[in-house]
Amino acid sequence: MKTIIEPFRIKVVEPIKMTTPAEREAALQKAGMNLFLIPAEDVLIDLLTDSGTGAMSSEQWAGVMRADESYAGAKSYYRFEARMCELTGFEHILPTHQGRASERILFELVGGKGKVVPNNNHFDTTRANIEHSGAEAVDLVVDEGKDPRNRAPFKGNLDVTKLERFFEEVGADRVPLVMITVTNNSGGGQPVSLQNIREVKEVCRKYDKPLFLDACRFAENAYFIKLREKGQGDRSVTSIVREMFELADGATISAKKDGIVNIGGVLLLRDDELYRQARNLLILTEGFPTYGGLAGRDLEAMAQGFEEVLHEDYLAYRLRSTEYLGEKLLAMGIQIVEPPGGHAIYIDAKEFCPPLPPERFPGHALACALYRHGGIRTCEIGSVMFGKAATMELVRMAIPRRVYTQSHVDYVVEVVGEVFDRRRTLRGMRIVSEPATLRHFTASFEEI
Ligand code: F0G
Repeated sequence: MKTIIEPFRIKVVEPIKMTTPAEREAALQKAGMNLFLIPAEDVLIDLLTDSGTGAMSSEQWAGVMRADESYAGAKSYYRFEARMCELTGFEHILPTHQGRASERILFELVGGKGKVVPNNNHFDTTRANIEHSGAEAVDLVVDEGKDPRNRAPFKGNLDVTKLERFFEEVGADRVPLVMITVTNNSGGGQPVSLQNIREVKEVCRKYDKPLFLDACRFAENAYFIKLREKGQGDRSVTSIVREMFELADGATISAKKDGIVNIGGVLLLRDDELYRQARNLLILTEGFPTYGGLAGRDLEAMAQGFEEVLHEDYLAYRLRSTEYLGEKLLAMGIQIVEPPGGHAIYIDAKEFCPPLPPERFPGHALACALYRHGGIRTCEIGSVMFGKAATMELVRMAIPRRVYTQSHVDYVVEVVGEVFDRRRTLRGMRIVSEPATLRHFTASFEEI
């Protein structure tokens, strides 16, 4: 069969509201043309993020009811711990309320002034937590990862030559650990090959440094390895995932992605002493180590979600449906970051709106146009988010897990196509007011 269908049927539905163009215009004006400030109720298709926005299964909801809410040693914790141990092979497993809590604990312990942490590309919260500790975050992704048109299979790889040079220049004493983000969210959701993880691990061995994964989208990454990497096609995703984690000495995970839950995170550690220290910090700010800032029901949902995400019919559907959106846009002549990533399609807004220079925020103009025209919410990743440091002007369409059907995606394609036809009419934007940091969340804009 060529058609890859959604491998689930729908048991509970949540109505989404159609709005009129006048209603959307009013919502946009009221929000100061900032899509983060629009009430979700006024959004028809919400592609702002794939984080915490997935649909839970009937088994996950059953787990929610079954959950044990004991403060210490709850049954739900042991179920979660057993699942994570089976999945990853790790024995030191700490639940946290989300990915950035794991990052904060880790870098409070290993970061600090003078330290430097390399990664393929740090996600914003990882970078922010490293910098908050006083350390510096450095991106060492392979060069093809920076070219939207390059269709290399593993554009998320960390450049091993750059890593060697980095160790020589910075000095191993200043490097507490090496990180790899799978898949590479900041680089377009591109995967990292198993071969690359093995090579990075070799460099880590040479300098006696631990390798950590930022493993939010580990299952999507493993399925890309199965599809694309030589010699991996016959393996189960479960065994590829296991090898990825066995190569690592620790991992930070936001369960809001491949855990398919609405809240939750994990910190995995191999080192006994680091684990003891992390557990103490966890108690200080998150909660007792058998709940880590979560309810028992969240742990149940995570235990089940981390099992379901490895089902290969789910992963085939997941990656194919994202690719489907990307292919349709490319066929209309719309430049995206190629090849399509696992969790999102990124439109190249510089190509989409050629008359608009970066200082007129082409990505933001496009994101607002998609909302205005079809009620679709997306996220600018360009000059609004990064200011002058932006290297690309992208609009991310992140796909929540198991939420939208193919006809929703076809609608999105139609809206983007119609906005593309009238792209010459898109107006540039000016910032009216902005906060001191992270301006994209709360700044207000006007059209010029
Ligand atoms: N690492 C990566 C690669 C992420 O994509 C995220 C979150 C985090 C860490 C932090 O996890 O949100 O649970 O604290 N990414 C979301 C996104 C917010 O929209 O891409 P968190």
